[in-house]
Amino acid sequence: MENDRIFLVPGDLRTGKALVEIGDLLKKLKIELNLLYLSNAEEFWSYTKEFRKSIINLPFGDQGLVLRTVVIGKKYAIGWKFHYSFQQGKDFVKWMQTPGSFSSKTIARKHRIPIDNKPYLSRFPAPPVSEKQ
Ligand SMILES: C[S@@+](CC[C@H](N)C(=O)[O-])C[C@H]1O[C@@H](n2cnc3c(N)ncnc32)[C@H](O)[C@@H]1O
Repeated sequence: MENDRIFLVPGDLRTGKALVEIGDLLKKLKIELNLLYLSNAEEFWSYTKEFRKSIINLPFGDQGLVLRTVVIGKKYAIGWKFHYSFQQGKDFVKWMQTPGSFSSKTIARKHRIPIDNKPYLSRFPAPPVSEKQ
Protein backbone atom coordinates (compact mmCIF):
# COMPACT_ATOMS: atom_id res chain seq x y z
CA MET A 1 0.00 0.00 0.00
CA GLU A 2 2.69 2.46 1.09
CA ASN A 3 4.68 1.84 -2.11
CA ASP A 4 1.63 2.10 -4.36
CA ARG A 5 1.92 -1.53 -5.42
CA ILE A 6 -1.61 -2.52 -4.38
CA PHE A 7 -4.58 -1.33 -6.43
CA LEU A 8 -8.20 -1.78 -5.47
CA VAL A 9 -10.46 -2.67 -8.38
CA PRO A 10 -14.06 -3.07 -7.18
CA GLY A 11 -16.18 -5.53 -9.10
CA ASP A 12 -18.52 -8.49 -9.06
CA LEU A 13 -16.61 -11.56 -10.24
CA ARG A 14 -19.82 -13.03 -11.70
CA THR A 15 -20.04 -10.22 -14.29
CA GLY A 16 -16.41 -10.68 -15.37
CA LYS A 17 -16.00 -6.94 -16.03
CA ALA A 18 -13.25 -6.01 -13.54
CA LEU A 19 -11.31 -9.23 -14.11
CA VAL A 20 -11.45 -8.80 -17.91
CA GLU A 21 -10.08 -5.28 -17.49
CA ILE A 22 -7.25 -6.62 -15.30
CA GLY A 23 -6.49 -9.41 -17.81
CA ASP A 24 -6.50 -6.97 -20.73
CA LEU A 25 -4.14 -4.60 -18.91
CA LEU A 26 -1.72 -7.40 -17.98
CA LYS A 27 -1.65 -8.51 -21.61
CA LYS A 28 -1.10 -4.94 -22.82
CA LEU A 29 1.82 -4.59 -20.39
CA LYS A 30 3.09 -8.08 -21.34
CA ILE A 31 2.96 -9.25 -17.73
CA GLU A 32 2.25 -12.93 -17.01
CA LEU A 33 -0.06 -13.72 -14.13
CA ASN A 34 1.71 -15.80 -11.48
CA LEU A 35 -0.88 -15.91 -8.71
CA LEU A 36 -4.63 -15.45 -8.63
CA TYR A 37 -6.11 -15.54 -5.11
CA LEU A 38 -9.87 -15.94 -5.09
CA SER A 39 -10.40 -16.47 -1.36
CA ASN A 40 -13.66 -18.45 -1.13
CA ALA A 41 -15.61 -16.03 -3.34
CA GLU A 42 -16.44 -18.77 -5.88
CA GLU A 43 -18.31 -20.76 -3.24
CA PHE A 44 -21.23 -18.37 -3.29
CA TRP A 45 -22.26 -19.02 -6.93
CA SER A 46 -21.96 -21.38 -9.89
CA TYR A 47 -19.63 -20.28 -12.66
CA THR A 48 -21.24 -17.76 -14.99
CA LYS A 49 -20.44 -17.46 -18.69
CA GLU A 50 -18.88 -14.05 -17.98
CA PHE A 51 -16.68 -15.32 -15.13
CA ARG A 52 -15.50 -18.22 -17.32
CA LYS A 53 -14.55 -15.81 -20.11
CA SER A 54 -12.69 -13.53 -17.67
CA ILE A 55 -10.56 -16.47 -16.45
CA ILE A 56 -9.88 -17.73 -19.99
CA ASN A 57 -8.73 -14.18 -20.85
CA LEU A 58 -6.08 -14.10 -18.09
CA PRO A 59 -2.43 -14.39 -19.23
CA PHE A 60 -1.37 -17.14 -16.82
CA GLY A 61 2.34 -17.95 -16.98
CA ASP A 62 3.42 -21.60 -17.29
CA GLN A 63 3.93 -21.72 -13.51
CA GLY A 64 0.93 -19.46 -12.75
CA LEU A 65 -1.18 -20.65 -9.81
CA VAL A 66 -4.67 -20.16 -8.48
CA LEU A 67 -4.99 -20.21 -4.71
CA ARG A 68 -8.40 -20.49 -3.12
CA THR A 69 -10.01 -21.38 0.15
CA VAL A 70 -12.69 -24.05 0.21
CA VAL A 71 -15.03 -24.99 3.00
CA ILE A 72 -15.09 -28.75 3.43
CA GLY A 73 -17.61 -30.28 5.80
CA LYS A 74 -20.09 -28.42 7.96
CA LYS A 75 -19.45 -24.71 7.88
CA TYR A 76 -18.99 -23.05 11.28
CA ALA A 77 -19.07 -26.40 13.13
CA ILE A 78 -16.53 -26.67 15.96
CA GLY A 79 -13.13 -27.27 14.42
CA TRP A 80 -14.27 -25.82 11.09
CA LYS A 81 -11.44 -24.25 9.13
CA PHE A 82 -10.73 -22.96 5.68
CA HIS A 83 -9.12 -25.51 3.42
CA TYR A 84 -6.43 -24.08 1.11
CA SER A 85 -6.26 -25.40 -2.40
CA PHE A 86 -3.78 -24.74 -5.20
CA GLN A 87 -4.37 -25.18 -8.91
CA GLN A 88 -2.29 -24.57 -12.00
CA GLY A 89 -3.74 -21.46 -13.67
CA LYS A 90 -3.81 -23.24 -17.01
CA ASP A 91 -5.78 -26.14 -15.46
CA PHE A 92 -8.37 -23.66 -14.16
CA VAL A 93 -8.66 -22.26 -17.69
CA LYS A 94 -9.38 -25.82 -18.92
CA TRP A 95 -12.15 -26.17 -16.32
CA MET A 96 -13.60 -22.86 -17.46
CA GLN A 97 -13.68 -24.24 -21.02
CA THR A 98 -15.53 -27.36 -19.83
CA PRO A 99 -19.27 -27.23 -20.58
CA GLY A 100 -21.86 -27.84 -17.87
CA SER A 101 -23.15 -26.19 -14.74
CA PHE A 102 -20.78 -26.58 -11.80
CA SER A 103 -19.05 -24.66 -9.04
CA SER A 104 -15.71 -24.71 -7.26
CA LYS A 105 -17.42 -26.84 -4.59
CA THR A 106 -18.30 -29.48 -7.19
CA ILE A 107 -14.64 -29.66 -8.24
CA ALA A 108 -13.50 -29.70 -4.60
CA ARG A 109 -15.89 -32.52 -3.65
CA LYS A 110 -15.19 -34.72 -6.66
CA HIS A 111 -11.61 -34.06 -7.65
CA ARG A 112 -9.37 -32.41 -5.07
CA ILE A 113 -6.11 -34.20 -4.30
CA PRO A 114 -4.69 -33.94 -0.75
CA ILE A 115 -1.15 -32.59 -0.52
CA ASP A 116 1.18 -34.53 1.83
CA ASN A 117 -1.92 -36.02 3.53
CA LYS A 118 -2.59 -32.68 5.17
CA PRO A 119 -6.30 -32.21 5.87
CA TYR A 120 -6.31 -28.52 5.03
CA LEU A 121 -4.12 -28.42 1.93
CA SER A 122 -4.98 -29.77 -1.49
CA ARG A 123 -4.61 -29.38 -5.23
CA PHE A 124 -7.30 -29.07 -7.88
CA PRO A 125 -6.37 -31.04 -11.00
CA ALA A 126 -7.21 -30.32 -14.64
CA PRO A 127 -10.63 -31.61 -15.68
CA PRO A 128 -10.69 -35.28 -16.66
CA VAL A 129 -10.87 -35.64 -20.46
CA SER A 130 -14.37 -37.17 -20.30
CA GLU A 131 -15.66 -34.91 -17.53
CA LYS A 132 -19.40 -34.22 -17.54
CA GLN A 133 -20.68 -32.15 -14.62
C1 LIG B 1 -15.01 -15.19 3.59
S1 LIG B 1 -14.84 -13.74 2.66
C2 LIG B 1 -13.15 -13.56 2.38
C3 LIG B 1 -12.37 -13.30 3.55
C4 LIG B 1 -11.03 -12.66 3.20
N1 LIG B 1 -10.46 -13.20 2.00
C5 LIG B 1 -10.07 -12.84 4.30
O1 LIG B 1 -9.07 -13.50 4.10
O2 LIG B 1 -10.35 -12.32 5.37
C6 LIG B 1 -15.42 -14.13 1.04
C7 LIG B 1 -15.28 -12.96 0.11
O3 LIG B 1 -15.80 -13.31 -1.17
C8 LIG B 1 -16.33 -12.13 -1.71
N2 LIG B 1 -17.23 -12.45 -2.83
C9 LIG B 1 -18.27 -13.31 -2.86
N3 LIG B 1 -18.89 -13.27 -4.05
C10 LIG B 1 -18.22 -12.35 -4.80
C11 LIG B 1 -18.40 -11.85 -6.11
N4 LIG B 1 -19.39 -12.27 -6.88
N5 LIG B 1 -17.53 -10.92 -6.56
C12 LIG B 1 -16.52 -10.46 -5.76
N6 LIG B 1 -16.31 -10.90 -4.52
C13 LIG B 1 -17.16 -11.82 -4.03
C14 LIG B 1 -17.05 -11.50 -0.55
O4 LIG B 1 -17.25 -10.14 -0.77
C15 LIG B 1 -16.08 -11.76 0.60
O5 LIG B 1 -15.19 -10.70 0.76
